[in-house]
Amino acid sequence: MHPALEVRGVTKSFGSGKKTLQVLGGMEVTVREGEFVSLIGPSGSGKTTLFQLIGGLEKPDSGEIRIGGRAVTGERGHIAYMPQQAALMPWRTITDNIVLALSIAGVPAEEARRQSMEWLPRIGLAGYESSYPHTLSGGMQQRVSFLRALLAPRDLMCLDEPFGALDALTRLQMQQWLLSIWEANRRSVLMVTHSIEEALLLSDRILVISASPATVIREVEVPFARPRSSDLWTDPQFNRWKQELYELLSSNSVLSVEDERSS
Ligand SMILES: Nc1ncnc2c1ncn2[C@@H]1O[C@H](COP(=O)(O)OP(=O)(O)OP(=O)(O)O)[C@@H](O)[C@H]1O
Ligand SMILES: [Mg+2]
Repeated sequence: MHPALEVRGVTKSFGSGKKTLQVLGGMEVTVREGEFVSLIGPSGSGKTTLFQLIGGLEKPDSGEIRIGGRAVTGERGHIAYMPQQAALMPWRTITDNIVLALSIAGVPAEEARRQSMEWLPRIGLAGYESSYPHTLSGGMQQRVSFLRALLAPRDLMCLDEPFGALDALTRLQMQQWLLSIWEANRRSVLMVTHSIEEALLLSDRILVISASPATVIREVEVPFARPRSSDLWTDPQFNRWKQELYELLSSNSVLSVEDERSS
């Protein structure tokens, strides 16, 4: 079976002449079918840029992107994408935002509406079906954006800091929730996070990337058996990995990691 995603030798610069900034310096990323991979690395290193390339919103200077074995470099519409900033349309209700996105992805409108009604309460948004985005908090909008990606009928989900705007408790609940849906469905996921613990809890593999021009500097196979739960946090092995990743990131750059549940 082809991997869900292959990023091969992808480079990307912005600007020109003396102002050229090379953001990606030959990225190599593979997500196998049904695998959960996290990307962790300094702020400004090019993680969102990589996602925009995978989603076809930008074109690489060189290299190739394959999804499910097909070369799709520069093409849109192949992935379920949750951007770092929830890009909801302000003039549409929450339900219509989800329905429209799913319709574009080929889901019949009635089915999209049914799924939206079924799932909104599960992410704590019962009663907001007909609300407009500006009446929701940033974290609530992020959950809508997450749901939109989750329901999109695409094999590969790219999540750019999906829980970044949530308070600690909601974040914990959303992580547990994502863990349980993912373990039941095994979608292929590539997720950006600044939280080492989140990466260790959710992922099969973690890719640590350098400051720009970004390359993958370390790959970690996460050894914990599934199904997992937050009990992992008391496992000494979990804390050893956490420490090791923390040191790797700190030596790579300051300001790069959150350590929100420091023990
Ligand atoms: N369209 C653009 N034009 C010019 N420069 C850009 C553009 N998009 C991104 N950059 C630059 O590329 C670099 C990487 O940005 P990017 O958003 O990919 O970082 P990131 O790793 O996602 O950071 P963070 O963790 O803070 O979200 C930054 O220096 C940014 O200014
Ligand atoms: Mg980013």
